[in-house]
Amino acid sequence: MGSELIYRGHETQLASDSYSPKPVKPWASVTRAVRYMLREQRLLFVLVGIAVATLVFTVFPASRAAHGPHLHSTTPLLDSIPYFPIETQNKFSYAHRLGFGSGNPTGKIPLGLKRKGLRIVVTGGAGFVGSHLVDRLIARGDSVIVVDNFFTGRKENVMHHFGNPNFELIRHDVVEPLLLEVDQIYHLACPASPVHYKFNPVKTIKTNVVGTLNMLGLAKRVGARFLLTSTSEVYGDPLQHPQKETYWGNVNPIGVRSCYDEGKRTAETLTMDYHRGAGVEVRIARIFNTYGPRMCIDDGRVVSNFVAQALRKEPLTVYGDGKQTRSFQYVSDLVEGLMRLMEGEHVGPFNLGNPGEFTMLELAEVVQETIDPNAKIEFRPNTEDDPHKRKPDISRAKELLGWQPKVSLRKGLPLMVSDFRQRIFGDHKVGSTTTTTNDSSS
Ligand SMILES: NC(=O)c1ccc[n+]([C@@H]2O[C@H](COP(=O)([O-])OP(=O)(O)OC[C@H]3O[C@@H](n4cnc5c(N)ncnc54)[C@H](O)[C@@H]3O)[C@@H](O)[C@H]2O)c1
Repeated sequence: MGSELIYRGHETQLASDSYSPKPVKPWASVTRAVRYMLREQRLLFVLVGIAVATLVFTVFPASRAAHGPHLHSTTPLLDSIPYFPIETQNKFSYAHRLGFGSGNPTGKIPLGLKRKGLRIVVTGGAGFVGSHLVDRLIARGDSVIVVDNFFTGRKENVMHHFGNPNFELIRHDVVEPLLLEVDQIYHLACPASPVHYKFNPVKTIKTNVVGTLNMLGLAKRVGARFLLTSTSEVYGDPLQHPQKETYWGNVNPIGVRSCYDEGKRTAETLTMDYHRGAGVEVRIARIFNTYGPRMCIDDGRVVSNFVAQALRKEPLTVYGDGKQTRSFQYVSDLVEGLMRLMEGEHVGPFNLGNPGEFTMLELAEVVQETIDPNAKIEFRPNTEDDPHKRKPDISRAKELLGWQPKVSLRKGLPLMVSDFRQRIFGDHKVGSTTTTTNDSSS
């Protein structure tokens, strides 16, 4: 039997002549997707992708983005925070720094948690006033960073803190910018005695203007509170006596002392402009003549001069007729005032000084009584622009800071004398340095 080719195509052909859509298989698309995934290990890639995504979201939770930039970041903050009034912004920053942040609107510290010590920078912290301030802050449990270029400061003033983990010392000139993460800035860096600030007047005014700008910029950037140590010299040769903070002063803008006087006046202006314009929390202290241990021995300030001269058996040099007056504040009183001002709620300016008024001749007598009753007094012509009278009105500080000096001149002077005696007869040979200038102001 021959093979029989049976052609059935015509049947199909017939059927296809009339249009009928292809029946849709219900699982066709799913099976096609599954087949696609199984081909060439695509399933493996999908599983690896899921694993990576899970890992990323576990390590960097989404909540982080919602909290905004971290306040302790070293990048500029204000640019990255959405707008709200700058004053509120900086208050928030300062409050946040102190642990009263957004997560803790009541400002209360949760039970079981102690408030951490503050991180504080003290510019000029190796100097006379700065080093005493550092002692108090460290004793309170704060972490202190001293920034100093050692122009008039000395490592010896702070070396008893070396090795303390709460203490750091940076050799730095405030005329150059500096970035530090801190809660408070005490800005003291500036030569304070006429002999030093007249040594390089351009540098003095630069320190006051550029140095203060840099420190205010830092305060703004990191949300720190800023305290400026200004001076009674902003009153110049005052026509009002005693001087109140509301007095605008009588300053010679082109005299030999103006690098300091006008420098500090500009520093006050900058401080207020950063406060008003950028919402930085600021404090201003106007310091009157202060004395105590660790003062520079030959800095031309009247108390240190008289004490050093009496110890060296040299005559006490009085400039002019010796009737110009000054008030003398012991350093521990000043430090207490500065800390109260920083912690308080008032911007200032505040006079910080001892209202007890002495003529130069009376001061010379107290030094004679304390050190050497036979010490001689020598009169010399007065220096240019030396103010005739200086006495603080401290009623504002009394009322708003609850502060007033406690240590009288007769109590404080012996404490300074023992430090000077030790430094003159220990570190220096007697008579190895002679006092060439004297000035009755700070
Ligand atoms: N002692 C006073 O009677 C008196 C009175 C009025 C105002 N003040 C002010 O108090 C502050 C401290 O005065 P002080 O008596 O301790 O003087 P000080 O000279 O002992 O201390 C000043 C410190 O600032 C440092 N310094 C100076 N220029 C600097 C710079 N460009 N960069 C970094 N550090 C710099 C010095 O090295 C020093 O350690 C000063 O701002 C001063 O104007 C003091």
